[in-house]
Amino acid sequence: MAEDLAVTGATKEEKYRSLLAQVKGLTAGESDAVANMANICAAIKYGLGYFWAGFYLVKGGELVLGPFQGPVACTRIRKGRGVCGQCWEKGEALIVDDVSRFPGHIACSSRSKSEIVLPVRNREGQIVGVLDVDHDAVGAFDQTDKRCLEEIAALAGL
Ligand code: SME
Repeated sequence: MAEDLAVTGATKEEKYRSLLAQVKGLTAGESDAVANMANICAAIKYGLGYFWAGFYLVKGGELVLGPFQGPVACTRIRKGRGVCGQCWEKGEALIVDDVSRFPGHIACSSRSKSEIVLPVRNREGQIVGVLDVDHDAVGAFDQTDKRCLEEIAALAGL
C-alpha cells in the first residue's frame, strides 16, 4: 500500500471523494472490523485535518470506546448521554455546531468545539456503534460531512 493517503480537491466534497476512494482500497478485502475502524479513524483525522475521530461500540448496554485517533477520550457512555448517547438513542446523525450549547455534552477535550456523531449499523440494520468526529473550530460540520462519513463508516464492515 501507499505510505500515506493523498487527499486532493478544492471543496470538502471533493476531498471526501478522494478520501473515500482510498479508504475503499484500504478496507476492501479486509474482514476485520477493528483493523478497518482503526484505518478509517486515521484517514479521517490525518486526511481531513479533523481534531478527533473515533468509534464507540455498543457493548453490554452502553457505548464503549473503540478505535480512534486523537487525544485520549472517555471510555464509556450511557444511552441518552452526551451527543454519542443521544445519537444512539435516536438512531440518527447529530451535528453540533457549538458543543458548549449542547445540553449534556460530554467534554473529553476542552479543545473540541464542534462535533458530528453518526449511528453505525450492521448488515441487519441494528445500531452496533457510533462514529464521532470532532473539530477544534465551531461550526465545522454540515450535510456533506454527514453524507460522506456515513459512506466511510459503512466501510468498517461492522
Ligand atoms: N463529546 C462526546 C463524547 C465523546 S468525545 O467527544 C471523544 C459526547 O458528548 O457524546
